[in-house]
Amino acid sequence: MVASRAEAGNAQRYERLRRALDGVALPAALVDLDAFDENARALFAVAKAAGKTVRIATKSVRSPALTKRLLELGDGVARGLMTYAATETAFLFARGFNDLLLAYPTVQKSDAEILCGLVQNGATLSIVVDGKEQLASLAAAAAKASVRLNVLVEVDMSLRLLGQHFGARRSPLRSVADAVPFADEIAKFPSLRFYGAMCYEGQIAGVADKNPFARSLNGPKRIIKKLSRPRVEKTRRDLAAELKARGMVLFNGGGTGSLHWAAKEPWLTEVTAGSGFLCSHLFDYYRDLALAPAAYFALQVVRRPSPTMVTCHGGGLVASGQAGADRLPVVALPEGCRLLPLEGAGEVQTPVVLSNGTEIALGDPIFFRHAKAGELAEHFSEYLLVRGDRVEGRAPTYRGLGECFLG
Ligand SMILES: Cc1ncc(COP(=O)(O)O)c(C=O)c1O
Repeated sequence: MVASRAEAGNAQRYERLRRALDGVALPAALVDLDAFDENARALFAVAKAAGKTVRIATKSVRSPALTKRLLELGDGVARGLMTYAATETAFLFARGFNDLLLAYPTVQKSDAEILCGLVQNGATLSIVVDGKEQLASLAAAAAKASVRLNVLVEVDMSLRLLGQHFGARRSPLRSVADAVPFADEIAKFPSLRFYGAMCYEGQIAGVADKNPFARSLNGPKRIIKKLSRPRVEKTRRDLAAELKARGMVLFNGGGTGSLHWAAKEPWLTEVTAGSGFLCSHLFDYYRDLALAPAAYFALQVVRRPSPTMVTCHGGGLVASGQAGADRLPVVALPEGCRLLPLEGAGEVQTPVVLSNGTEIALGDPIFFRHAKAGELAEHFSEYLLVRGDRVEGRAPTYRGLGECFLG
């Protein structure tokens, strides 16, 4: 049988990665640097062509060394980090990162104190808010620390149709009419500065519309995306007009799954990207994205329960979000192998059904891909940085640096 070009490519990739990990203790996580760099260049090029800078979503990377690499590859286009916790923001500032946008609100006093301490130490940072309680907590800490904190208003970009809500459940501010008085409210606190807005369109950026795990939903998802776009654009445009008059400096929107589209909105000052760099498997299933798989985890094959199956040691790295088959890791290499529906990704062992003709010995690695880009880093202390068929370096993850910011 003549192998197709793709099959030959995947067979070569398996061999290449297997050689790279020869002698490495498994389980191990790796970043295929050529693919990572290619994804970064592609996403940065899209933003650059539209005259936008890209803020890196650290939740989708969770390794300072990789984040640094992205800022270097971005060379002026990659600017600033979108962080997810006050403690993480402080951790990154201590490692030399700056221009930090904490995109998820907090009402905790200790977080507000951490952020104010960073400002005292010269950090350029802002935090997203959408409620009076958050304002009160931040304002009190900022007043006590004698600093002024930059705050961004998050406005909900969800689509509401036929009594249904499509999009993230985050901000209660749903319209320009909600956001403007809230921005005026911020201006009343001498220790806070209204700095701009963040409008993340999760129902577009975060929804895979070519998902092989839920084919019947792809059509409706495309319709939701199509209906959402003009509404999101209009709300962001109208918002910009109002908020600019109130001193807006920063207007953030977009994510990997919508970057090519959001970058074209003239009123946004920047777009965000994270998951696309490592391209976890959920990012294979977007009609209008073409990114290369760049992150894998390798498990050793330890048993052979039948001639057509092997069992790997480890593997149960299931992703967050709406529970479903697409949250499981996928078997990436050797090509065509798959999980067993009745076992899925196991707690300490994972059976894999071999594709026709796949020969694999006990002790060989099988390469999996996680559904989500950042979460893989919570399971490993480092990424092996693979160039070609060798490990060129190592990038410690937050976990490897002794940190876990989400408990
Ligand atoms: C506020 C915000 N912006 C952007 C993104 C997009 O991140 P990514 O590119 O990793 O999908 C997210 C993801 O959830 C987000 O919460």
